[in-house]
Amino acid sequence: MEEDNSLTKLAVMPVDIKKQEFQKLINIYEIAMNQTKTELENIKDSLNKCYKYNVIDKIDCRIKTPESIIKKMQKKNYDMNYKTLISNVNDIAGIRIVCPFKADILKIKKIIEQDSNIDILEIKDYVYAPKKSGYSGLHLIGQTPVDIGGTIAKVKMEIQIRTMAMDFWSTTEHKIKYKANNKISKIDSKKMQVYAKIINKIDEDISNINAKYME
Ligand code: GTP
Ligand code: MG
Repeated sequence: MEEDNSLTKLAVMPVDIKKQEFQKLINIYEIAMNQTKTELENIKDSLNKCYKYNVIDKIDCRIKTPESIIKKMQKKNYDMNYKTLISNVNDIAGIRIVCPFKADILKIKKIIEQDSNIDILEIKDYVYAPKKSGYSGLHLIGQTPVDIGGTIAKVKMEIQIRTMAMDFWSTTEHKIKYKANNKISKIDSKKMQVYAKIINKIDEDISNINAKYME
């Protein structure tokens, strides 16, 4: 099979979400995402066989809507062409892996590195260094090959790995912010930062207790 990043052929064409080429591009991301989801489901099964509990609790995925792709490009002041879109918007396809214990995050990262078709291009470790908001999680920007009619395209995606506790904080915080149109008061955002720290402490302690009882 010919190695060819056919995605870059769209190059400097302007991004128009109503055009066929936009939908075609999104379809490629969707194939990549589904392919990776299947791979991760297999990893989930093999991890669950190795340990006495479900190391991966759940795997969710989503494709960014055309509107939020445009919104992100505008917010980041990107040129509205496909080349910029493909090279800079890394979360068109997004996969979220949720695990019970903090120590599971690294187990999952390692097995992705070793046993999958995903090349990790970038790591954002918000477990080691949470965001100012309090947000915590491990983000991998990965790339996976997709066969498009005989040519191989390398497709990027964002893989978020987080514990159930981190997932609880971020999904509830996201719901609150969404309802408040992203404008929550300083007091409330301070409270959310404090809760993130408390949750993180509990997360760490529970993971350590679990480690004591594992062979
Ligand atoms: P975005 O423009 O938000 O995509 O930022 P980025 O491209 O620099 O990526 P980053 O890794 O910082 O964060 C991307 C994703 O992490 C978001 O789409 C959310 O899913 C999650 N995230 C980051 N910060 C927060 C936060 O403060 N609260 C919540 N709930 N989620 C967050
Ligand atoms: Mg994002």
